[in-house]
This record gives sequence, structure tokens and C-alpha cells, in this order.
Amino acid sequence: MVAARKGGEKLKMVTAYDAPTARIADRAGADIILVGDSVANVVLGHDDTLAVTVDVMVHHTAAVTRTDPKALVVGDMPWLSYHSTTQETVANAGRLIREGGAGAVKLEGGRKRLAMVEAVRDAEIPVMGHLGLTPQSVHSMGGYRVQGKEAHAAYELISDASALVDAGVFAIVLEGVPDVVASIVTEEIPVPTIGIGAGAACDGQVLVFHDVTGLGAGEYLPKFVRQYASLADDAVEALEAFFADVDSGAFPSEVETYHMPAESEEILRNLANPSDHILADEAMERAPDA
Ligand code: KIV
Repeated sequence: MVAARKGGEKLKMVTAYDAPTARIADRAGADIILVGDSVANVVLGHDDTLAVTVDVMVHHTAAVTRTDPKALVVGDMPWLSYHSTTQETVANAGRLIREGGAGAVKLEGGRKRLAMVEAVRDAEIPVMGHLGLTPQSVHSMGGYRVQGKEAHAAYELISDASALVDAGVFAIVLEGVPDVVASIVTEEIPVPTIGIGAGAACDGQVLVFHDVTGLGAGEYLPKFVRQYASLADDAVEALEAFFADVDSGAFPSEVETYHMPAESEEILRNLANPSDHILADEAMERAPDA
């Protein structure tokens, strides 16, 4: 399905990390829901994505797939889950599929990771690549910087994309690269490119749920993000209104309150008063629900 969209209608991908965000993404018509390792900074309060483990990714991927979305769910392989042996890589990718319910996995990096991509693909698990500004390489990149700005680096990135395709990826995320680099990769490879901060030429686009919807209260937003709503502000307003109603006594109202049958209430009130216990016992015997 995804490969068939090369050069056709644009692919729409968004992150989701739990059941409510997955339901919203699916209702809005996402083609792909990415359970990104960005869950680390976006939801779990870490400074970068390096903190999350396979267990954490399985936990969040399963929350997303339990909603049974129409979209393809891709589970991100976290840092160090595909860096040592191919056996360990396949076992970790397998957990995202078997326990998390994902339909595919994504991993970062180019030619360095070919053996891992091939091993996962040989285990019949569809793999998405991720090149350019790869957040798991934050330390080796010297920070979150646009990649492939110089001709040589851009050429390396384009070669990485071709090598990933040969290794069997079904799509590649291009993050934080100049538009011309994304455009050349998109023209040269037969599988879809999905851009994030990579210009308009890609076969699809991806953004982080909390950035698009404005749910990430007060977070720094990179230049490539377009925020379409202000859900965090809406939520603050809703909570302020709730708290004001609690203060004034306007909440809860009659319709938001459960009531007891009058007869039971009378018995209860008698029970609550020890001097009336004998009367209450008699009333209990007569009561229809006793
Ligand atoms: O983890 C993530 O959110 C991602 C996207 C930004 C592509 O990898």
C-alpha cells in the first residue's frame, strides 16, 4: 500500500503514543501512525530520545494498536536496540510486532545499519529507514543540526538512501535536510520518502502529533513545524472553567449527580443516626429492597 503511493497521492504520517492520540490520528485519515521514540521527549519528559528502551516502545505501540486503527502502525526501534548483533536486532524488532502489534518498524541510519535492515527484512518484518537529522545520533552529530548541507555530506546521504533501498526498506523518513537533497533522493529511489523538515518534494510528510495540534504546551517548535491548533491552551481554559465551577458550586449540577430512591434515603438517614437504630431495623425489614 505504502510503496504503491510513490509519486502519487502524498502519504500522511503522524506520531501517536497512546490510545487517544491514535484514535484521533486514525479518524483524521493518517496513512501511517508512527509510534516514535520521540515519546521520550514529547510524553515522558526526557531531554532526548536516548532514554527509551524496547520495553517502553512495546508498551506505547501496544496502546496504539489496541485501538485497531486502519492506518499502518510503525514502531520505532529505540537507540541500542539494533546496534550490536543482528540476532538481537531481529528479536527486538519482533517484540514490536508480536507484543506491540505494529505492522512495521523504523530504524535510523544508513550504510552502517545495512546488516540490521537486511536481517529484519529477512525475518519478514517491513522496515522503514530514517536518514538526515537522526535524533538518536544527537551526540555524534554535535546537536540537532540540519544534515547534508555540504555537497559531500549530501552525496553520502543520497548513497545511504540507495543502499537502504537495496537492503529492503519500504520507505525512508528524511529529517532535517535541505529540500534539494530530499528532492534528489525522492527522484532517485523507488520507495516513498516521507519528509520532516525536508521540503515539499517528498512523497509524504510526517509531524509529531503534539506539535501539529499544539498539545505540547510550551515546547520549543522547530522551524519546519506548522501548528494547526492550540489544544494545550484549550485544555487550560477547560480546566480553569472546571475549577471556577467547583469554587462557585456550579459543578456538579443536578444532571451530573446520582440520586437514591427516597425510601432508601430515609432508611439510610435513620441508620446514620444511632438513636434511631431500632426504627431503622424495622424499616429495613419493611423496605422493598431489603
Ligand atoms: O520519533 C519520531 O517522532 C520520529 C519522527 C520525527 C520521524 O522519528
